[in-house]
Amino acid sequence: MTIFGAWSPLLFVLFLFCEESISLRNVILDIEPKVVQRGGYSTLSCSYDLGESQLYTVKWYRGQHEFYRYTPSEHPSTKTFPFRGVNVDIDLDLSNEHQVVLRNVDFQLSGKFSCEVTTETPILTVTADTNMTVVVLPEHPPSLTTDKSFYVVGDVLKVNCSSSPARPAVILSFLMNNLVVCEKCETRKYPVDDLFWSEISLQLPLFPSHFLEGRLVLRCVAAISDIYQTHTEMRLDNTKDPIPERVTFPHNSSVAFFSPKTFVSIIVLLALIFR
Ligand SMILES: *[C@@H]1O[C@H](CO)[C@@H](O)[C@H](O)[C@H]1NC(C)=O
Ligand SMILES: *[C@@H]1O[C@H](CO)[C@@H](O)[C@H](O)[C@H]1NC(C)=O
Ligand SMILES: *[C@@H]1O[C@H](CO)[C@@H](O)[C@H](O)[C@H]1NC(C)=O
Repeated sequence: MTIFGAWSPLLFVLFLFCEESISLRNVILDIEPKVVQRGGYSTLSCSYDLGESQLYTVKWYRGQHEFYRYTPSEHPSTKTFPFRGVNVDIDLDLSNEHQVVLRNVDFQLSGKFSCEVTTETPILTVTADTNMTVVVLPEHPPSLTTDKSFYVVGDVLKVNCSSSPARPAVILSFLMNNLVVCEKCETRKYPVDDLFWSEISLQLPLFPSHFLEGRLVLRCVAAISDIYQTHTEMRLDNTKDPIPERVTFPHNSSVAFFSPKTFVSIIVLLALIFR
C-alpha cells in the first residue's frame, strides 16, 4: 500500500465535498398562494443554487404534464405547452427562469406541481414539487333557522344550519354553550353547478341543563379543512324562567346630559343665588 493509497479515502471525501459545493442543489418549489380561489392567480417560484454550473433548462409540470419550459440558450427562451386549464402568464417579468404565474385557475389544476432543474457541466437534474388547491369559499357565513322564535325547558329544539355554495363542501357542526352537540350529525351536501351547498339538522329535547343562567347559545360552525372557518351564533333564552336583562343606555343619553360646562354653570348659578 502506497502513501497515496492510504490517503485516498480522505481525498475521495474531499472530492465529494467540492463536487457538492459546485453543483446544483437546494431546489425548492414554493407556491403562493397554495390554496387559491377559482379564477384567481398563483405564483410558482422555483429557487435553486447552481453552484459553479450553468443552467441548461427549467421545466414545469402539472402532474406528469409539462406545461412550461425555460431554456436560456434557445430563442425564444420560453416555451409553453397547452394543457387544459393552465394559463401561463407569458409576460417575461412574470414567468421566467425562476417563476411561473398561472392566471384564471380552475378546479382541475388542483394537485401536484413540479419544477425540474437541469444544469450542464456537470449534467444534473433535480426536481422539487408542491401541491396547489383551487377552491371556492362560501360567500356568506352559515345561516341558522329554528322552528320557533323562543324555547322553554321541555320543548324540542329543531334547528337547521346551511352554508352557501363552496368547493370543497363546507362541513357544519353545532355547539351549544360551547359544547359540541350531536357528534353524529352528518353534513348533507347538495351539488349546485360545480359547487356544493351544505346543510345540517338538529332535533333536541331541552333540559334545564341546556340553559346556562337561563340562556342557551347555539353556534353553527362552518369549516373547510384548515383553510376556512367561520360561525353564526343565536341566543335562545329560557323565557319560562326569565332573568332580568341588564339594560344599557345609549352612550350619549344619560351620561353626557350634564356636560362639564353645564355643571360648572349650575354651580356658579347656585353660588350666585345663595350668596
Ligand atoms: C399532495 O397531494 C397528494 C394527493 O393529492 C397527497 O397524497 C400528498 O400527501 C400531498 N402532499 C403534500 C406535501 O401535502
Ligand atoms: C330543516 O330542513 C328540513 C329538510 O331540509 C325541513 O324539512 C325542515 O322543515 C327544516 N326545519 C327548520 C326548522 O327549518
Ligand atoms: C344619541 O345616540 C342615538 C343612538 O344611539 C343617536 O341616534 C343620536 O343621534 C345621538 N344623539 C346625539 C346628540 O349624539
